[in-house]
Amino acid sequence: MTELILALDLLDRKQAARVAESCAPFIDAVKVGYPLVLATGLSIVDDLSGLGLPLIADFKVADIPNTNRLISEAVFSAGFDAIIAHGFVGADAARACVEVAHNHGGAAYIVAEMSHPGATEFFHGGVAERLATLAVSCRADGIIAPATRPDRISRLREIVGEKTIYSPGVGAQGGDLDTVARLVDGVIVGRSIYEAEDPAAEAERLSRIRR
Ligand code: C5P
Repeated sequence: MTELILALDLLDRKQAARVAESCAPFIDAVKVGYPLVLATGLSIVDDLSGLGLPLIADFKVADIPNTNRLISEAVFSAGFDAIIAHGFVGADAARACVEVAHNHGGAAYIVAEMSHPGATEFFHGGVAERLATLAVSCRADGIIAPATRPDRISRLREIVGEKTIYSPGVGAQGGDLDTVARLVDGVIVGRSIYEAEDPAAEAERLSRIRR
């Protein structure tokens, strides 16, 4: 079944913990990004680790290999299970994140194409395809591809084969869960869940729609 991953983009520690806890029975992982970590520090991991769900660090890491390695070490030492990195910085830099992830028994995913409208400015014209190819050659565990463009997911699937595809952009950004769930291994949903009047009820509803 397609995984449902909660993008926990909140700025308040207590609210984040409350939303994650209430949604936990209906989701498969929690994605934590800059908004929450910059507001709370990496110690938010301690608040979320009791959920018993994989924690994905969405820091879209994009630096030189040594800095990527240091960032990844900090992420996995804090207790995260996976990291999301950019591939446009080159194979050596992306590989640094993959190696640290694997050394810690974790996973690394490379952004192949983003989900917002402006993403077409740079990711189209063959770039996303090259990033997906790089993800394969770096032995990343998978890629991030846009739920807002199912045709692009299908194209990127041709390149990554059986590797995991996680897809943000369902709901608030306009992506259709039913369509995308057939194409990917996991959908990443943020605002549709955490801004709902009853986040747990919305997570449950989405968990029933996915294939
Ligand atoms: O609120 P919403 O469901 O749009 O959240 C989508 C999440 O996925 C956000 O955390 C966003 O940063 C992230 N993301 C994305 N597009 C990408 C990669 C990550 O929307 N390509």
